[in-house]
Amino acid sequence: MQITINRNMKRILAFLLAATMLLVLAACGNNGEPSNTVGPEKSDASAENGTQTTENKILVVYYSASGNTGRVAGFVADELNADTFEIVPAQPYSDADLNWTDRNSRVCREHDDPSLQDIALVSAEAPNWSDYDVVLFGYPIWWREAAWVVNSFVKNNDFTGKTVIPFCTSTSSGLGDSGTNLEKMARTGNWLEGQRFNENPSEDSVRGWARGLDLE
Ligand SMILES: Cc1cc2nc3c(=O)[nH]c(=O)nc-3n(C[C@H](O)[C@H](O)[C@H](O)COP(=O)(O)O)c2cc1C
Repeated sequence: MQITINRNMKRILAFLLAATMLLVLAACGNNGEPSNTVGPEKSDASAENGTQTTENKILVVYYSASGNTGRVAGFVADELNADTFEIVPAQPYSDADLNWTDRNSRVCREHDDPSLQDIALVSAEAPNWSDYDVVLFGYPIWWREAAWVVNSFVKNNDFTGKTVIPFCTSTSSGLGDSGTNLEKMARTGNWLEGQRFNENPSEDSVRGWARGLDLE
């Protein structure tokens, strides 16, 4: 009798031990596996809930013949932690070229003959273009339109999936149709209403505008 009880007890104990070990192993297995996947799982989750994807990658593309738009572009890029790409004509415009009061100047000849407005650029390809979600696009106003120097960049790049925000500098003209005309030329991208600045706007006003776009 004594022996039988001991054997039964041993069997029960052995069973309980085995069951406990199984439970412990199972628990370790559950704890251990996620500890390898917590990182990726967390980052997947954060990507899904937007904590990674809401951080827009921003590029400020600009052309500036005499520095005004370039100065504005610099403030915008700095305010938004954005990268910059300057559109540079292969043959830069001299002061004489820009003299719109001289009927024989380069700008006047190009203005009068649109076939001359296809301006060769040093490069029409911004590095890592496909990485950017938002493009701020800056230019001077020439004859109430965007300076045609930017046209080949606009035509040669695919803006699909990008939000594009034009900005310009001018003596007195507004943005006018310059932004919507560039949008038509691009045929891709979500072009928003842009902003006109005077030739020498205060740094605060430019930064304030950029901040107000709420892009970051
Ligand atoms: C060829 C040419 C045409 C211009 N046409 C206009 C115009 O139609 N309206 C205006 O307000 N300013 C006009 N401007 C002035 C420029 O838009 C202004 O000086 C601008 O800030 C220049 O920018 P940038 O220094 O970046 O080249 C013209 C300037 C040039 C050189």
